[in-house]
Amino acid sequence: MLQLIYVSTARANDADCAAILATSRENNGRDGITGLLYSDGKRFLQALEGPEDRVEAALARIQADPRHRAIVLLSRRTVDHRDFGDWAMAHRLPGADGDLFLARVAQLVAQASPDVRATFEGFAEARRAA
Ligand SMILES: Cc1cc2nc3c(=O)[nH]c(=O)nc-3n(C[C@H](O)[C@H](O)[C@H](O)COP(=O)(O)O)c2cc1C
Repeated sequence: MLQLIYVSTARANDADCAAILATSRENNGRDGITGLLYSDGKRFLQALEGPEDRVEAALARIQADPRHRAIVLLSRRTVDHRDFGDWAMAHRLPGADGDLFLARVAQLVAQASPDVRATFEGFAEARRAA
């Protein structure tokens, strides 16, 4: 199984996360892809894992998506087991409580491997004041 983690920047200040989430749930369910999409309104951090060809195809679609830019792959590795049992999204709404959001991210990565957990928790912490 392939696991990818990338970071990117939303083009609009309030990217339409509901639409992204709906498409992702449908496609990822079909393709056997699990993972987590973090969004704080400006930055995205996403983990995708599943069959190699499906994950590569999803990445190609995502990279061509004009709703974000500056897509940087942070990690690409082969894994024996999934870090995420499902597909989920953590979206911080404008003005939302930073501590609650951090707790939500921590909860979503609680079962993940240490590296993946550190990537998401560290990013969320760094973006706390954003
Ligand atoms: C930040 C971000 C994350 C996305 N994540 C996914 C994803 O996990 N799976 C997916 O299929 N599409 C995802 N998309 C949407 C894709 O870019 C693309 O619009 C979609 O896969 C097209 O699907 P369709 O051909 O079924 O319309 C994401 C888009 C953005 C901007």
